[in-house]
Amino acid sequence: MAADALFRPFTHQSLTLKNRIVMAPMTRSFSPGGVPTPDVAAYYRRRAENDVGLILSEGTVVKRPSAKNDPNVPDFHGEQALAGWKRVIDEVHAAGGKMGPQLWHVGSARNPMSTWVAPPPVDAPSGLSSPGKKFTEPMTDEAIADTISAFGQAAADAKRLGFDVVEIHGAHGYLIDQFFWAGTNVRTDAFGGATLAERSRFAAEVVKSIRAAVGKDMAIILRLSQWKQQDFTVKLAQTPKEMESWLTPLVEAGTDILHCSQRRFWEPEFEGSELNFAGWAKKLTGKPTITVGSVGLSGEFTAAFRGESSKPASLDNLLRRLERDEFDLVAVGRALLADPQWARKVREDRHDELQDFHKEALARLA
Ligand SMILES: Cc1cc2nc3c(=O)[nH]c(=O)nc-3n(C[C@H](O)[C@H](O)[C@H](O)COP(=O)(O)O)c2cc1C
Repeated sequence: MAADALFRPFTHQSLTLKNRIVMAPMTRSFSPGGVPTPDVAAYYRRRAENDVGLILSEGTVVKRPSAKNDPNVPDFHGEQALAGWKRVIDEVHAAGGKMGPQLWHVGSARNPMSTWVAPPPVDAPSGLSSPGKKFTEPMTDEAIADTISAFGQAAADAKRLGFDVVEIHGAHGYLIDQFFWAGTNVRTDAFGGATLAERSRFAAEVVKSIRAAVGKDMAIILRLSQWKQQDFTVKLAQTPKEMESWLTPLVEAGTDILHCSQRRFWEPEFEGSELNFAGWAKKLTGKPTITVGSVGLSGEFTAAFRGESSKPASLDNLLRRLERDEFDLVAVGRALLADPQWARKVREDRHDELQDFHKEALARLA
């Protein structure tokens, strides 16, 4: 199938993209002391030079003592780190690309591949790292307020540096997702509650803080997932109605685009419909959505960390869904991590030049 659907331009309010391909946010840990190096800038520039419509940065952390779980994860605060990010966005713009940082706070999720320990306090809604597993003390009101304003400050800095969008990492069992999940949020105050709508309050406050910081024109993308790294089988929303109660306050708070993380984009979200998570999120909110998960590859990404390789796979199912506007944008992770020319090769129908993904790709900035 021709990949034309991927190369239609996209416009939403003041955001215009030349095509529908988004580089998925991928932690690379190549920023010693939290400062992105010239190599990091060149890595993103190569994707901009090769037809990626929108680049989302690796998770980059807001200013809280334990926002990251690896010292080489980039900061999005402090003069040196922000100067590093300025180089990144300037190089991406010079190559004709568009980009946003993914603003991140890991909460109580530790990095299984690192023994490094962040300075306290660790922020987690109820001090739990997974259901029933105490890790630290619950976040105080002051820590919650400080964290919300740290997201706002980072977004203000992103705008000042010239980034085109900001993405909030609200997925995969990290801090914001720890508020959504009943398994890690047992608070009885205004940031907790029996319903998903009530547990969305923290995320909504983060979105509002960012909206206040960037003004009405800069697009805010919110990344969400049903699944957690702590448990792939979790579904925050069991029904479309529950999903609507989750997403509506987040959209009302100022989210423009929902980035719906699945490990395999083709898996239906609810029984009785083929729609995936991004399909349902678009249908329920009317907002543009991004799909993601094993696009163009045979295996899913968490297996890659265990050493599994993947082969190039057909894009036909994805293209059919995109043609009928089930979702608007398509994020591509490992295929673009390994090969900066992936988007260009797809545009030029050079499918036989698409590469396998091997875990060795994680060890370098290609
Ligand atoms: C090395 C690596 C690092 C990742 N880091 C992040 C991250 O910082 N933030 C995030 O939201 N997702 C992260 N992800 C998940 C990807 O954004 C994406 O959702 C996932 O890889 C599925 O897409 P793929 O199948 O095209 O690789 C990471 C994935 C990989 C492979």
